[in-house]
Amino acid sequence: MVQNANIVDHFPWHDLSQETAWLAWRAAKNRAFEELRSIPPVEMDSLDSVNPQALQEIKRRCSTSNFAIYKVRHQPETVEKTGDALVRFASKLGLELSEDHRSAEDNGIVVLRTSAEPGKQGYIPYTSKPLNWHTDGYYNPSGRPVMSFILHCYEQAATGGENQLVDPEMAYLAMRDADPRFVRAMMLPDAMTIPENREEDGTIRPASAGPVFFPHPATGRLQMRYTARTRSIAWRQDGVTQEAADWLRQWLSSDDATTCNFRFQPGDGVVNNNVLHNRTGFESVSARAVLRVRFHERITEA
Ligand SMILES: [Fe+2]
Repeated sequence: MVQNANIVDHFPWHDLSQETAWLAWRAAKNRAFEELRSIPPVEMDSLDSVNPQALQEIKRRCSTSNFAIYKVRHQPETVEKTGDALVRFASKLGLELSEDHRSAEDNGIVVLRTSAEPGKQGYIPYTSKPLNWHTDGYYNPSGRPVMSFILHCYEQAATGGENQLVDPEMAYLAMRDADPRFVRAMMLPDAMTIPENREEDGTIRPASAGPVFFPHPATGRLQMRYTARTRSIAWRQDGVTQEAADWLRQWLSSDDATTCNFRFQPGDGVVNNNVLHNRTGFESVSARAVLRVRFHERITEA
């Protein structure tokens, strides 16, 4: 296990010439994925009383597989108090720098639920529609990338509202197996551009250009910026990049993808280093409420 963590932490993923390190990392990641699929969520009494072993286990899973599912036995009685507790819980994982999001409360929490508010109209997260594969903040300016986030279920819909997750390093692994040229293309600084967008409130969100795979500045670990959307997106105008984008979209929707499926119940959540994720639709009249907080730093390594 410790050996797994070491191999995963120190893998030079951006240097595709290091064959021995690649094969060792590939085997370690596949082992970690099989393990993660078979173990239950990390259990905690409440977001405010997390024992050191549970905290360590969350960090370990995030170090080797970039996400950890948890289950909380007792929830605060309101969404607001749950949000405050979530912020305190996040700080124990080294997550302090929350994203300044237009829909966030002062503590950085965004409550995802169906909304008729004018500022949220037209944004799929605030509807009951399905959400396609993406990482969070893929449209952010390059200097403000989302490195991690927590999703915490306060209330689930009666049906639907299921999430699928894919560890970005497993997407890299599968892509490198398919064609190493695809990986190189996804590392280019202009691989994926999201054009400028006029927000509902009239402000302009500037165009966002950047790589799909990029290193976290402090640790060198692979981070990912991606959306499977096919409109309002410009892939780099070369054959390999276009092929790589097509391959990734198809892989994510195929049975080959290393996905983990969850239908969160109240008190369940996921801590993660901005993994690929989607969401199925749910019935339109629903009390479903999921709290989200995004950060500009990674979860502290175990
Ligand atoms: Fe998301």
